Amino acid sequence: MDKRPIGVFDSGLGGLSTVRAMKKILPNEDIVYFGDTGRVPYGSRSNETIETYAAQDIKFLETFSCKMIVAACGTVSTTAAHVLDKLSEPATGITKPSAKAAAMATTNNIIGVMGTSATVNSNAFEAEIHKTNPEAKVVSVACPLLVSLVENNWIDIDDEVANATVKRYIKPIIEAGADTIILGCTHFPILAPIIQKVAGGYVKLIDTGYEEAMYVKDVLRKNNLENESTHIGSRKYYVSDKTQNFCSVANILLGEDIESKCEFIDIFKYI
Ligand code: DGL
Repeated sequence: MDKRPIGVFDSGLGGLSTVRAMKKILPNEDIVYFGDTGRVPYGSRSNETIETYAAQDIKFLETFSCKMIVAACGTVSTTAAHVLDKLSEPATGITKPSAKAAAMATTNNIIGVMGTSATVNSNAFEAEIHKTNPEAKVVSVACPLLVSLVENNWIDIDDEVANATVKRYIKPIIEAGADTIILGCTHFPILAPIIQKVAGGYVKLIDTGYEEAMYVKDVLRKNNLENESTHIGSRKYYVSDKTQNFCSVANILLGEDIESKCEFIDIFKYI
């Protein structure tokens, strides 16, 4: 039994796809979320910068004495995993749980990966998939504009720009014959209805938010860290820029009004 909160972070709104899944899978857990909205996107930056940002994000979350740190950011998970590995508390990113799910889900051994440029350049998903399924062919595509679509709330299933952008990005994955696609950036599960429509119903989408939340549940159980109280967990959201835009998209994604639970913080203080 451990009542301390779980710290979750991302460059912006994307990590809310993990929070959305955690609310269902781990309803009693308290969550502190940090979205680095003042410095999004991470995916076009150097590994060194991403590492520095991730270390600051974690420093901030550690002020809440979190029992676990969750990088709900594909870019941090794939390029700065060593920052997570060094922590004294349990920590995870999205790479392992999602790669394993994809490796097991594919029936034709062709897997697509949609991610940021940094994630695709890292080859981390490919390496992780091959640990479970060495035969799999992996086709990775960098889809940076999808991050901006989500940050700007262009996420409606009929949004013309979002549909056209997804179509253009996933063409090589579909042409390669992938039957499974990892949504390898946590912003992308938010666009899952569009991606599914464009890819076709037969393609299995791996929702990195869901897979990560299931993995967190497992880590808490194995380490005896679960919050066994019967109350619904509290959730607090922090951002590094103005709260309005974050809240208006978050309210839709999470299905609740988070305005009173969201605050600005100066991330530059955490070095
Ligand atoms: N949500 C992020 C990811 O999973 C980051 C997108 C970005 O900041 O470029 O990669």
